[in-house]
Amino acid sequence: MLNEKEKLDTLANLGIELNRVQDLDIVMEHILIEARRFVNADAGSIYIRENDLLYFTYTQNNTLQQRLSDGEKLIYSTFHIPINKESIAGYVAATGQPLNLADVYALDPSCPYHFSKEFDKKTNYKTQSVLTIPLKNHHDDVIGILQIINAEDESRKVVSFSPDDERMMLHFASIAAVALERAQMTRAILLRMIHMAEMRDPKETGAHVNRVGGYAVELYERWARRRQLNLKEIDRCRDILRMAAMLHDVGKIAISDVILKKPGRLNESEFETMKQHTVLGARLFSDRQSDFDEAAAMVALNHHERWDGNGYPGHVDVQTAKALKGHTRSDGQPLGKKGEYIPLYGRIVALADVYDALSSARVYKDAWDESKVLDTIESESGRHFDPELVEIFFSSLDFLRAIQRRYQDKN
Ligand code: C2E
Ligand code: SIN
Ligand code: SIN
Ligand code: SIN
Ligand code: FE
Ligand code: FE
Repeated sequence: MLNEKEKLDTLANLGIELNRVQDLDIVMEHILIEARRFVNADAGSIYIRENDLLYFTYTQNNTLQQRLSDGEKLIYSTFHIPINKESIAGYVAATGQPLNLADVYALDPSCPYHFSKEFDKKTNYKTQSVLTIPLKNHHDDVIGILQIINAEDESRKVVSFSPDDERMMLHFASIAAVALERAQMTRAILLRMIHMAEMRDPKETGAHVNRVGGYAVELYERWARRRQLNLKEIDRCRDILRMAAMLHDVGKIAISDVILKKPGRLNESEFETMKQHTVLGARLFSDRQSDFDEAAAMVALNHHERWDGNGYPGHVDVQTAKALKGHTRSDGQPLGKKGEYIPLYGRIVALADVYDALSSARVYKDAWDESKVLDTIESESGRHFDPELVEIFFSSLDFLRAIQRRYQDKN
């Protein structure tokens, strides 16, 4: 359990940590970890509000996590609940008031809200004390819910949340809400930028880039864990990679609609034009002012290279798009980058992008069956794709599918 000094340090650090512009998923993860540590709670969830629904977006559960083997993560379902007074979280969202319940299995029958036992039944978990706090933005609107479950004493016996816990969580929630609001704004700006770039339906585009970002982060995390990279470092890179991956095709902003939206196959010269989206995208970030710019440039430039060296644009100067000295093929074209000459983020996004492109309908193609997609990816191991990443891909397939379900095209 945390002592008083550790509690103060945690609060101070949380403020600093959450003030960095961060990806929404990572912000939510940090909010939960710190909130749970603070009141010594076994589990917790964050719901994000969208219109009249609360999306059960993120969950942590120490007890359930311990039942999994090392490195496995909980698969969180993506159910939502309406904002009304019938559920606990819905009640808190509707009223804007926190709720501190000592035992959800012993609620007063006159309460308007009820505890849903569904999750407990499914997971063989016993929820008891539940502290539910609204996350409010600067207009005092509820933008989410923080729910902390099963406070434990030193002997890991479940106890109630104290009035002190409640007060501190309120303070905590106000810091968290600011970060959440900011992250949502960053995400919204990013999506608008991508929408402009692809000039397509913003919903469809949003889903596609969210999926590619999600897959990329999933693959990266497993790759990095295999190498036992420092967890803080993994976190920071995840954050950057997700945004960079979402912008992998931003260079398409410079490609004409005639080519971009052509319903049939591209001819050779059209495809040559299309290939320039890699270099054009990289130029947008060529100032390399930050780690993010560097990652975004790297992803844009390298996401169509192939492990066997037959991809594009190859070893080129980003400004001129001409072959670099000593990297010219006999026909004068640039040599493709091969194997580990392709930066990791490029190799990762190549796999994430093709997985998504094959699984989805495009203006020029129908969606493929999953079995055909998986066969293709397997047979392209060592050809199009880094074999180690293909191995990681298959070991994380359930998680990739969960991301796919979470971000569906809305037609
Ligand atoms: P994209 O639609 O995001 O596709 C990304 C990559 O997924 C493609 O890179 C390719 O490696 C793979 N892919 C997508 N669909 C198929 C498919 O039906 N069969 C196979 N074997 N692979 C597929 P690629 O080929 O370098 O294309 C880059 C971008 O160029 C595509 O991004 C898309 O925007 C455009 N494009 C490519 N071919 C066509 C086409 O025939 N018609 C139109 N309108 N656009 C095309
Ligand atoms: C609720 O807050 O009522 C939904 C969460 C749960 O039932 O565990
Ligand atoms: C949202 O703002 O909830 C959509 C983006 C996300 O789920 O990460
Ligand atoms: C790839 O894009 O290389 C995989 C699909 C294929 O070309 O057959
Ligand atoms: Fe591309
Ligand atoms: Fe793409």
